[in-house]
Amino acid sequence: MKYTFRSPGRINLIGEHTDYNGGYVLPAAIDKYTYITFEESDHFEVYSKYFDQRVRFSFNEKKEKVEWVNYVKGAVLYSLRGLRREPKPWKIEISGDLPMGAGLSSSASLIVGIVYALSRLGGVYRKREKIIKIAQKVESEFVGVKCGIMDQYAVAFGKKGSFMLIDTEINRVIQYVRALRFPKITVVDSGVKHELALSEYNKRRSECEKAKKIIATSFKRVNVQMLEEKRNKLGETLYKRARHVVEENNRVQSAVFAIEERDWKDLGRLLYESHESLKDLYEVSTEETDFIVERLSKIKSVYGARMIGAGFGGSILAISKDYFDDDLKKISNEYKKAFGINMKSYHIRLAGSVRRI
Ligand code: GLA
Repeated sequence: MKYTFRSPGRINLIGEHTDYNGGYVLPAAIDKYTYITFEESDHFEVYSKYFDQRVRFSFNEKKEKVEWVNYVKGAVLYSLRGLRREPKPWKIEISGDLPMGAGLSSSASLIVGIVYALSRLGGVYRKREKIIKIAQKVESEFVGVKCGIMDQYAVAFGKKGSFMLIDTEINRVIQYVRALRFPKITVVDSGVKHELALSEYNKRRSECEKAKKIIATSFKRVNVQMLEEKRNKLGETLYKRARHVVEENNRVQSAVFAIEERDWKDLGRLLYESHESLKDLYEVSTEETDFIVERLSKIKSVYGARMIGAGFGGSILAISKDYFDDDLKKISNEYKKAFGINMKSYHIRLAGSVRRI
């Protein structure tokens, strides 16, 4: 007997690098998926269609040599280790159309998908809140990426046609924001993934920790004027990081208003502002992503665009009145000329959460 689960990727409309700073984020699950099939077996084994690789693994804490297998092994291990009986082994197959390394959370999609599936396939039954926590632990402890909680939330709680406003201070979806007559959404994958991403991500986290100690309260409770008063104490770098977080939190709230008012121009302006801030204050953008955002801003149909995800490459999100595939072709040619890299793009719709199909 085979059981298949479908787990979405995610975009984040706005609220970048706020989820580990007790701030607001506004992500959504998307119609690009990881498919995970489970078949009963006498040993654990996983096949990835993307890597066209089959790996057998044991139920123990040891890391596997093949990097991608650790996402799967970690998810299996952390899901089943509380079990009082011998865990039932599975043959797992992974496929899907969610691009990897494009900043669309293919890792959270895979890990949440497996933890969810095992909790429904006779493992320990768990609520989605718990599934999210386990998935985050897999990524931060077993795989070694200290991520926030946004991606797991989006995968586990996404609702078709809605963004979700999450307050990461209380770890809760505080509002589903219906995207009625919402502009078209395009994701452009820059094809760039810098090695630096992981170390710089962790560095930003610790810079923000230091800034928080100096301002002595959470980022949500300070405004720019209060930051100015502490500017000397903070020093230039911490000031810039804190300023991004404080203003980005405000932008998320303004974005919710803009969606409710269907003021797409204003929403677009917020996206551009977010990008500028990620570039100049948080310093996680790259030449390539800046190039794409700048070119997109010249297209009439485009309301706004910005880099999404951790940064140092990855994807750009654009919202527009209509799709603009011809313009994208032109940008893609220019991009190839400037950087020698192939740019890819995807039309995106907001989808529901992980489920069995
Ligand atoms: C990565 C992390 C998220 C979040 C973003 C930046 O995608 O996995 O938790 O921190 O970066 O907003």
